[in-house]
Amino acid sequence: MPASQTILLFDSGLGGLTVLREIVRVRPTARYIYIADDAFFPYGHHDEAHIIARVVPLVGELIAAHTPDLVVIACNTASTLVLAHLRAAYKTPFVGTVPAIKPACASSKSRRVSVLGTRGTVKREYTQALIRDFANGCRVTLVGSADLASLAEAALRGEEVGDAALLAEIAPCFVEDGKARTDTVVLACTHYPLLMERLIRLAPWPVDWIDPAPAIARRVVELLGPARGDVAAADAELIFTSGKPQLSSKALAAFFGGRIPA
Ligand code: DGL
Repeated sequence: MPASQTILLFDSGLGGLTVLREIVRVRPTARYIYIADDAFFPYGHHDEAHIIARVVPLVGELIAAHTPDLVVIACNTASTLVLAHLRAAYKTPFVGTVPAIKPACASSKSRRVSVLGTRGTVKREYTQALIRDFANGCRVTLVGSADLASLAEAALRGEEVGDAALLAEIAPCFVEDGKARTDTVVLACTHYPLLMERLIRLAPWPVDWIDPAPAIARRVVELLGPARGDVAAADAELIFTSGKPQLSSKALAAFFGGRIPA
């Protein structure tokens, strides 16, 4: 049996687990290495130069250490900034996560779309360019959230996170102008789908929440080609750059397709 493919996922913290979960579903035979750069979390609070200076060499070290077949930058705040630098520096194929503005604007009926991301992501030139190229006549509202990624991590760790705190972060996404109101919200941070059920419940009115993870998973499979190896032999590893595990192995197994990561 040929060796499994190795997929390395990188995020500032636990949000990339929402992307991992979808990739494991479509490629269960791969070996997974998940890196949470929690020593530098949250990326949304750092300026662009610091993120580039942190992520580009760190990903280079990870590639040298783990020789992955493919790297997923499972973080919008990083992808919208470092993807071009990474592709220029390393030969390994990269898949990024960037705001799903194109499909959201193509499917919105009210032509009112909101993009919910970190303050860093909504400020990026990359995001502005997506709106210029793909708004397709929609009015796009950018909502930069300061705390939602941290609240999502707290909730995942089982800490109490009140509805009022979540609602305060998502409320600016719900815009009514004249007879039209927002019908589509792009989740432009991989942490936010961790809160999916609560976002749906707290929304002032029903909207389509666009989580790009399934599309990212399809892209990964497309780039990797046919699966290799055996599900039972495919192990998984999770590395926190702080050196301090942030979540129990049992809670993590749900994202790793039932495997307990080392
Ligand atoms: N998960 C990250 C993203 O997709 C952001 C969280 C952070 O601020 O570090 O943008």
